[in-house]
Amino acid sequence: MIDVIRLMLALFFALFMALPVTAPARAGGDAAGGEARFKDCAACHKLEPGINNVGPSLHAIFTRKAGELADFRYSPAMKRSGIVWTAETLDKFLSDPQGMVPGNRMPYAGMASADDRANLITYLQNATK
Ligand code: HEC
Repeated sequence: MIDVIRLMLALFFALFMALPVTAPARAGGDAAGGEARFKDCAACHKLEPGINNVGPSLHAIFTRKAGELADFRYSPAMKRSGIVWTAETLDKFLSDPQGMVPGNRMPYAGMASADDRANLITYLQNATK
């Protein structure tokens, strides 16, 4: 009888330990998936500070106001948009750049999938620090 209880305890323990492996927690986005999504942006944006390309450096983007870098020539639309970049505003912008900032000069049609955007933003939150 004791052996049966031991066996059951061992089984429960094994199941409990296996759970996080079989059902990975999805708090926010998946940074690894987001790194792959960044291919959409990498042709124009660098993550290093001070390196502008076709688009401005995205370094420290989450603490910046839109159009703030002194050494990048933004469109008037971006400069006067009044946006502060957060996970929320970036999500909205990436879903429809022209819809959120009409007349901006970022030649990117948008990222349709909310999952893809969440993953990309999670990746950027670490990679732009
Ligand atoms: C073909 C080039 C190109 C691609 C691709 C591109 N961008 Fe941009 N991006 C730009 C340009 C140019 C601007 C400046 C727009 C303006 O001034 O109106 C910009 C502006 C931005 C800004 C505002 C920066 C600031 O300093 O206010 C963010 C944020 C941004 N892009 C994120 C992204 C992300 C994330 C992606 C990928 C999903 C992406 N961009 C894809 C060219 C690009």
